[in-house]
Amino acid sequence: MAREKKYNAIITALGMYFPDKVLDNKYFESIVDTTDEWIVTRTGIKERRMIENGATSDLATGAAKDLMETHNVKPEEIDCIIVATVTPDMLFPATACIVQNNIGASNAWGFDIEAACSGFLFAFQTGCSFIESGQCKKVLVIGADKMTSITDYTERNNCILFGDGGAAVLLEPTEDKSLGLQDYILRIDGSGEKYLNMKGGGSLNPPTHETVDKKMHYIFQDGKAVFKVAVKGMADVSFELMQKNNLTSDDVAYLVPHQANMRIIDATAERMGLNKDKVMVNIDRYGNTTAATIPSCLVEYYRAGKVKKGDKIILSAFGAGYTWGSTLVVWAID
Ligand code: UT7
Repeated sequence: MAREKKYNAIITALGMYFPDKVLDNKYFESIVDTTDEWIVTRTGIKERRMIENGATSDLATGAAKDLMETHNVKPEEIDCIIVATVTPDMLFPATACIVQNNIGASNAWGFDIEAACSGFLFAFQTGCSFIESGQCKKVLVIGADKMTSITDYTERNNCILFGDGGAAVLLEPTEDKSLGLQDYILRIDGSGEKYLNMKGGGSLNPPTHETVDKKMHYIFQDGKAVFKVAVKGMADVSFELMQKNNLTSDDVAYLVPHQANMRIIDATAERMGLNKDKVMVNIDRYGNTTAATIPSCLVEYYRAGKVKKGDKIILSAFGAGYTWGSTLVVWAID
């Protein structure tokens, strides 16, 4: 990387929160014209979670508390809280403010980032910049989404895809430049706006009876169109990042892909020359949780003892905007 950095940003703690209620494929067979077989073969999803009482801040707070409890982090040590989400509790205040109050992070500032399914990558990059420059010592980066709050359960194309969840990482500085964030390629292309969006509720279409009647408060997705660009976008950028850093498939310990569709994940891994055992997956149990997919995979694989210090890990996502990118991280926890 060309720019000079004072520190490298490393992940030093992780946590996650998934609500207990499970929506399995059988449930969807009972509410729309679909089958377990279609959902599993076309998406890889078997189950997703739904929060019954609560909002995105509860998912994010649950993830933050899990992180603090399992790694002995005190709330007042946190300098900054960044929440990536497309389902904030409210348009304002930022969900980060609600989380700050819930966990008692009395010395923190913070804000939300909206980059849809790439939200965690964009928030991670932003958090790392505060660490690298020396402005912050502990940045909490959370990806959390209550996708069930914007899903139309009468529409079979999309309703089977999404679930609720939250996951978090803590970033801290190190002077060891061989660890932590090494490189990234992040992109946006607003010409993709028309294929994946939520039209109602913002300043373009403030909520009215009409916007609700027209179901503009739900996710709109042209799945086929998004599928094609997602495959190309994630595969291209991940491959480019490997080339830029002279990495072969042997050098990469893990791909951590956004969990939108198992077929997109497989195509990305194939382009990178990675076997299935080098790809982190939890789409089967949680579906697409938008900003929570990548950090929750990290939490689960780390807790299963599958990640070791020095592992080169590529995080990659594609989402609404369009937004997409890949990030190269060297694992720093022993
Ligand atoms: O996370 C942000 C980015 N989002 C994505 O990356 C999602 C990208 N898109 C996708 O993952 C896929 O396009 C979907 C999973 C949404 C759809 O899969 P597909 O293989 O692209 O299906 P399709 O839309 O081409 O539909 C094929 C058929 C259609 O029937 P006909 O027209 O061939 O008779 C659909 O009506 O499958 C039908 N279909 C379903 N059938 C049973 C669509 N949804 C369902 C369903 N159950 N739930």
